[in-house]
Amino acid sequence: MKWGFVGTGRIAERIMEAFKQMPASTVTAAYTRREESLQAFCDRWQIPGRYTALEALAADPEVEILYLATPHIVHLEHFRTLVRAGKPILCEKPMGMSAQETEKMVRMAREHGIFLMEGMWTRFFPITRWLRRLVASEELGRAYNVMADFSYHSPYDPALRFFRRDLGGGAMRGAGIYPLAMAAMVFGEMPVDVCAMAQQKNDVDLRSAALLRFPGGGLAQIMSGFQGESVQGANIAFEKGAVWIPDFWHPQRAIMRTQHGERVISLPFDFPGFQFEIEEVERCVAAGLQESPEMPLQESVDLAAALDRMYENWQ
Ligand SMILES: NC(=O)c1ccc[n+]([C@@H]2O[C@H](COP(=O)([O-])OP(=O)(O)OC[C@H]3O[C@@H](n4cnc5c(N)ncnc54)[C@H](OP(=O)(O)O)[C@@H]3O)[C@@H](O)[C@H]2O)c1
Repeated sequence: MKWGFVGTGRIAERIMEAFKQMPASTVTAAYTRREESLQAFCDRWQIPGRYTALEALAADPEVEILYLATPHIVHLEHFRTLVRAGKPILCEKPMGMSAQETEKMVRMAREHGIFLMEGMWTRFFPITRWLRRLVASEELGRAYNVMADFSYHSPYDPALRFFRRDLGGGAMRGAGIYPLAMAAMVFGEMPVDVCAMAQQKNDVDLRSAALLRFPGGGLAQIMSGFQGESVQGANIAFEKGAVWIPDFWHPQRAIMRTQHGERVISLPFDFPGFQFEIEEVERCVAAGLQESPEMPLQESVDLAAALDRMYENWQ
């Protein structure tokens, strides 16, 4: 299918690498504000359609699917324009800056009868799908606890989006959404109790941690941050064993430990791994679906609500 990119920043660059490995999926047009970065991006990736007006990109008859990859602070604003074109939209995570914004986007997508999905690419990796099957099979019994950390070190730079409140910066909303979504996926529900803390600078959480309690009794401990490298793993404690997933946000293997010993489940893929998310969107669009059964829209709204509660906790 033919895609149109809205935003040509860091994530657009990375996802392009996946498109280059997928001959049936092409990026045919791109939009960004600045002419200079638009031309540089399109030259680099040989993209013919070049726009500095959002409406023009959305209306390009060559474009079949829109990929919204501007900073999340402007997702809703850009979405309002894009949705009128009546084309399917993959919107980068987090979809909105709050549950209210996310809900608005979901409502508009439904009113226009279009496909919409939050870009939770972590959901579609072979190892993540294996984990979902493991939970459903109850082979290890019930899942009790999840511990997941998505932290990395990014030197403080007040010009960078991560550190700017006016650009929606902050660790929990930008990065912590992955460990949160992992816990919600394992327990199949959203937390009822949230206890969160953060180390902030200029009203932006540089590091954040949360303890979550789920209605069925599951507990989770999640961390995210731009200060301090972490192993970025997820540990899931089941009744009859444990699963450790290194690099859980783009996993290639899992280690399952039971009383019978240790088993390594290896499901490798080529970096960067965005192909699974792209395939899911195209599969849903081809099937005429308006949302992905693996990343439903209500889940995006509920994740945003859980994030809202964390930010309320420390504000
Ligand atoms: N899935 C993932 O692994 C992943 C990883 C990173 C980020 N993300 C998500 O992707 C989104 C974009 O992040 P990024 O790191 O790619 O951001 P970025 O590097 O700052 O790039 C933002 C892009 O949006 C454009 N843009 C258009 N209108 C804008 C406005 N009003 N304000 C600022 N920029 C505007 C910028 O245009 P100009 O070139 O004209 O400035 C630039 O092309 C975020 O929601 C983020 O959470 C996802």
